[in-house]
Amino acid sequence: MIQISELTKVYSKNGQIVKALDGIDLEIEKGDIYGIIGLSGAGKSSLIRCINRIEEPSSGRVVISGVDITALSEKELRKSRQNIGMIFQNFNLLSSKTVYDNIAFPLRLQKYSEAIIKEKVTSLLEKVELTDKANVYPSNLSGGQKQRVGIARALATEPEILLCDEATSALDPKTTKQILSLLKTLSYELGITLVVITHEMEVIKAICNKVAILEAGKIIEKGVTAELFSTVPTPQTRHFLGELEAPEFLTQKGTRLHLTFSNGSANAPIISGFIRQFPYDVNILSGNIESIQRQVVGKLLIEVLTPSEDEMGRVIAYFEDQHVVVEVL
Ligand SMILES: Nc1ncnc2c1ncn2[C@@H]1O[C@H](COP(=O)(O)OP(=O)(O)OP(=O)(O)O)[C@@H](O)[C@H]1O
Ligand SMILES: [Mg+2]
Repeated sequence: MIQISELTKVYSKNGQIVKALDGIDLEIEKGDIYGIIGLSGAGKSSLIRCINRIEEPSSGRVVISGVDITALSEKELRKSRQNIGMIFQNFNLLSSKTVYDNIAFPLRLQKYSEAIIKEKVTSLLEKVELTDKANVYPSNLSGGQKQRVGIARALATEPEILLCDEATSALDPKTTKQILSLLKTLSYELGITLVVITHEMEVIKAICNKVAILEAGKIIEKGVTAELFSTVPTPQTRHFLGELEAPEFLTQKGTRLHLTFSNGSANAPIISGFIRQFPYDVNILSGNIESIQRQVVGKLLIEVLTPSEDEMGRVIAYFEDQHVVVEVL
């Protein structure tokens, strides 16, 4: 539904050239909640802004539902942007307008009658649970409420795609959860495709079925979220995907193994099986189990004392037979 190919974005400012996007290829399917994560300056905002051409790509193509966005005239672009909503970190509400009028704004631009606007805004207010705030000004709303107005406004033109640029970064953890859950529900109920830009992996884990990791304008990893967390990270992706660490004060006595369990292995009594099968002591140094997009991903850092190298091969083979991903540290 969104096909991005060989997209580049180069800024030049005061004689300095910055390559913000460097050959991005990405395919986002209808109904995906696609997360794009990266450190500050990685190019996330540039990427999302090139999707609806708020920022002009320097080269490459963005095709949405078969339409080459990059080839459209200004006028055609304005029309196709109605199909792409956007929400922002700082909400971007009009402070001199009430909640109702903020949500009505894009509809008035499209010259809908006031009767239809009223119908649409009333229904949107219900969706984001702000019916009682219709006549309030943004300055009297909490951050979470402001973002719900932002969401309602973005949905007013019934877009197929919603672009979210750090939509929860200004919110506390509890409000973040509520907004993420609202986005997920809306995406499901309305069949909207979400592109979610964030620097927080928690946001990705909470709602994104797919994720791409962006670094210095390039995608260094992409895939199904739960699968990405079930594989051994590369040196580049380790920072994002995280890995267990042993407490610093523990001196290493044996061989340390980092084990990753996913759906196939998370329910099985793998450690007790190991203990029955091998005469080696095993010490658990750290562990974590979480549910990512309804898939269980468990990580365990253990130390095995002290098999020979050959025996260690058998130990690793045992875990791998049980569909555990093993990394020798
Ligand atoms: N309008 C601009 N003019 C010049 N350089 C820019 C412009 N916008 C972004 N850049 C540069 O492009 C690079 C990518 O910026 P971008 O805003 O896309 O990153 P980001 O991943 O969104 O960062 P953050 O997490 O801080 O929002 C940075 O080096 C930034 O300084
Ligand atoms: Mg940004």
